[in-house]
Amino acid sequence: MTTLIIAVDGPTASGKGTIAKALAAHYGLPHLDTGLLYRAVGWQCHLNGGDPDDPAAALAAASFADTLLGDDRLRSEATGGLASRVSVHPAVRQTLFNRQRAFALQPGGAVLDGRDIGTVIAPEARPKLFVTASVEARALRRWKEMQSRGEDHTLATIEDDLRRRDERDRERAQAPLLPAADAVILDTSSLDRDAAISAAIALVEQAR
Ligand code: C5P
Repeated sequence: MTTLIIAVDGPTASGKGTIAKALAAHYGLPHLDTGLLYRAVGWQCHLNGGDPDDPAAALAAASFADTLLGDDRLRSEATGGLASRVSVHPAVRQTLFNRQRAFALQPGGAVLDGRDIGTVIAPEARPKLFVTASVEARALRRWKEMQSRGEDHTLATIEDDLRRRDERDRERAQAPLLPAADAVILDTSSLDRDAAISAAIALVEQAR
């Protein structure tokens, strides 16, 4: 049997994290949420008092971010925004490249989710899923998630923030958020959690 390296890319709140975790459990593979690495760098930069738009400050944070990986604050919207700003810098991406690549190539296979797994980190991954959903569906999911955590934000603010982040992720020069040429697109706008997971497993089965 060939080694399964599953790439799951897509925008924020598309369901890619849930799908990647479920695929890892289903196939008994290790899973890496690469967004967490960028979130840790963004949060570390903030703790350092650095400007996330400044390449030197962001790069300095990239070397020290490891200790933060278990920190709950990485999950907040504010940290997501910081992550999206530090992740624009090529030197930050380069610093995080080797560990992601090593994770992808470990014997036995792996599941990685992010923005550039199928295009940059593991172009040999197969299958490659690009999970997407309308901005309205994603904003509503994020809003419900935040309500359940007691974070109070309006739906309109969340939607604006998602649009801004999508634009930044899509338009950056290096590793923009784009499906790989050989990716299969999974639109989860009208799927609940279980339906999205079943659809993803079906796509993996077809593609492998
Ligand atoms: O997926 P998540 O929302 O946790 O990612 C936070 C931010 O990190 C994204 O908006 C994106 O800018 C950046 N990121 C990236 N490449 C990845 C994963 C995340 O640029 N592979």
